[in-house]
Amino acid sequence: MKKIIAFSGKGGVGKTTSLTLFLKYILENRNKLDILVIDSDPDANIADVIGEEVQFCDTIGGKMKILKDKIQKRQLPLDVPKNQIIEGDVYKCLIEMDEFDLLEMGRQEGEGCYCYINSVLKNVIDTLSKNYDITLLDSPAGLEHFARKTGRDVTDLVIVTDPSKMGIHTLTRILDITKELNLKFENIWVLGNRFPDNLRGILEKEVENIKISNLKLLGFISNNDEISMINLTGGNLLDLPLDNASYQEAKDIFAKII
Ligand SMILES: Nc1ncnc2c1ncn2[C@@H]1O[C@H](COP(=O)(O)OP(=O)(O)OP(=O)(O)O)[C@@H](O)[C@H]1O
Ligand SMILES: [Mg+2]
Repeated sequence: MKKIIAFSGKGGVGKTTSLTLFLKYILENRNKLDILVIDSDPDANIADVIGEEVQFCDTIGGKMKILKDKIQKRQLPLDVPKNQIIEGDVYKCLIEMDEFDLLEMGRQEGEGCYCYINSVLKNVIDTLSKNYDITLLDSPAGLEHFARKTGRDVTDLVIVTDPSKMGIHTLTRILDITKELNLKFENIWVLGNRFPDNLRGILEKEVENIKISNLKLLGFISNNDEISMINLTGGNLLDLPLDNASYQEAKDIFAKII
């Protein structure tokens, strides 16, 4: 079982939070699995949510900026192929935590068009994720990354929405783009985050009306004060107590994915 699971959805709906709850679920219940977490969101870091500090120079964006500067100043050694340098940089960025590895993509900076770097980068990361049982991808808010087809190897797409018209609008836009670009996923899951009981039926109906055979409602995670508190005080969401009500819900629904 090799799974690449991407969390997408409108900004602020709880992508990083639900991904981290999923990570906690795997760490608590399936601790034999090798896990890679890729944070491709340049703004909001998973590292923040789990109380780690990552410097820009230790992100892929940081390393690629140095590489671009060197290319511009013609400071690269001529005898080493560029793809080897990029591959080495990706491995240098891999943060080895006790129970999983983390790759921070960081912000892409630097002058000029470096399509070559980006395509090598994508291949290296695709190859890297083959070494893991589970790769969790935190996608940036918005839809541009879908247009760039960066979801190509994802097996499970989790679209997170909160109880808002905008959240559900982004959900349907993601599905439209997925269809337009003919992106194939084994499963597309809809996750309702922060839904009070009385509004859940609305999302259930919404999902029922979408006629996509591999699309399913994953379930709901309630709003939870302890989650807010950990976020506000800069704590580690992985330390959320096991009996936390939202973690209990998360556990039940994530068991459907693996
Ligand atoms: N179930 C929940 N209960 C309480 N707070 C929550 C819950 N889900 C998310 N939050 C809070 O909502 C805020 C946004 O969540 P999060 O960062 O996970 O969203 P996101 O979709 O990753 O945002 P972005 O698009 O900026 O990356 C955070 O402060 C987080 O702690
Ligand atoms: Mg996020």
